[in-house]
Amino acid sequence: MNATDDMLALAQAMRGRAYAPYSKFPVGAVVRGANGKLYGGCNIENAAYPLGNCAEATAIFAMVADGEHKIVEALVLGPDGELITPCGSCRQRLREFASDDLPIHLAGPSGVNRTVTLVALLPLSFGPGHLGK
Ligand code: THU
Repeated sequence: MNATDDMLALAQAMRGRAYAPYSKFPVGAVVRGANGKLYGGCNIENAAYPLGNCAEATAIFAMVADGEHKIVEALVLGPDGELITPCGSCRQRLREFASDDLPIHLAGPSGVNRTVTLVALLPLSFGPGHLGK
């Protein structure tokens, strides 16, 4: 039993719900709020391609819709065999609700393969503090 097992299980379930008929690249993501709750998301594509939504975005939207504004841990799970990192836009989305030291778990078929920090993926970032928030 690892500390991230609950996140991994939810990410697997979420990846199973991915709506990715165009890329056929299902992704599941989970964020843990400061309230201790887990919020999961999957990618949701659209026939109008640019409207597609990443799994991380879906998870963050679910968290905010639940009234939580602080992410303390995140996990992303790509298709089997693929270890992926959040895209550039999602790094910035995470930044809005997390600090530089946010642990982001990168998971593959055998579980969490690697954990990186947000600042490693998005150094010298622009964030709410620059707007006095
Ligand atoms: N995708 C995510 O959901 N999260 C990522 O971190 C990378 C990419 C999705 C977007 C699109 O639906 C598919 O993966 C292929 O890019």
